Amino acid sequence: MSLNASASDETSISETTPIIHAVEITKRFGDLCAVDRVSLTVKRGEIVGLVGPDGAGKTTTLRLICGALKLDEGQIRVGGYDIQRQTEEVRSQIGYLPQRFSLYEELTVMENIRFFAETRGVRREDWLPRCLKILEFVGLADFTERLAGKLSGGMKQKLGLAAALVHSPRVLLLDEPTTGVDPVTRQDFWQLIIRLAAQEQTAILVSTPYMDEASRCHRIHFMRQGKILIEGAPANLKASLVGSILEVKGEPLPLLRRLALEEAGVLNAQRFGDRLHLRIAAGKGEEICNRLRERAEQAGGKITRFRPVEAQLEDVFIALLEG
Ligand SMILES: Nc1ncnc2c1ncn2[C@@H]1O[C@H](COP(=O)(O)OP(=O)(O)O)[C@@H](O)[C@H]1O
Ligand SMILES: [Mg+2]
Repeated sequence: MSLNASASDETSISETTPIIHAVEITKRFGDLCAVDRVSLTVKRGEIVGLVGPDGAGKTTTLRLICGALKLDEGQIRVGGYDIQRQTEEVRSQIGYLPQRFSLYEELTVMENIRFFAETRGVRREDWLPRCLKILEFVGLADFTERLAGKLSGGMKQKLGLAAALVHSPRVLLLDEPTTGVDPVTRQDFWQLIIRLAAQEQTAILVSTPYMDEASRCHRIHFMRQGKILIEGAPANLKASLVGSILEVKGEPLPLLRRLALEEAGVLNAQRFGDRLHLRIAAGKGEEICNRLRERAEQAGGKITRFRPVEAQLEDVFIALLEG
């Protein structure tokens, strides 16, 4: 199903021109630099992730891009319009799902989405077919008469997404859309995001603290303390990691981790659930396995498995933070 009849007719912007173009943007709150010379681009059909821990500056970046906050420095263009001089033109291109999306609990799903359509200036004759189409897209078509207050957390997020899409935006800003949502709904939600980018060519900038979601983006920017530390396609970031990853199973993990860190050739050791990931220097794998196994037994522990594994994005970021 196509949401935007005009999606493929838009020829004014070439495929390679970014729709979102932010250059060295900075935002301070008093002494705190919440966003520190951040540059990023998002093209049509591209899903770009803003990845980072709490307080990294993700929300502030998104709020700058949608014009909810004023820039201290830098430039933002969206669809060719300048955010400072052409704020309304920029806003008309953007759908924004805030981190804490507020819907009207005492209104039904349909009444809510109608409200968002009207506030976004969707014409009377357009809003009903448009709303029905979007509710079907997000999987809420059977719940139009349900009170929003009676929706599950995941359904509320889907209604939020529907509200953000109601004026057919070319750009979608999603602020941690799946935080606090169950795993099945997270999967559903990502299927919707991927379809929007692929079928509608929507440019999507999404913030997330989750590495598994980060790895679904075409490109990611890893942010911390207001700065972008690294940027690239997930596969390229993984390939850029120095050394290789050895997965260790056994117990007790704190002991194994301590022993591993004492080994020459182990660059770092990080817990991943019930396993350890050791990042090791090239060619040292076998030597490290043998010695660690022996030392673990001497110390009263046990290693049940060593296995070389592909680097995960977590490994990349841990290496970055320690480096
Ligand atoms: N309106 C504000 N006034 C003062 N400080 C703020 C405001 N908004 C955010 N901050 C601070 O800016 C930093 C970045 O916050 P935020 O952009 O919300 O990060 P994230 O979304 O990555 O968790 C944090 O230290 C936060 O406390
Ligand atoms: Mg945030």
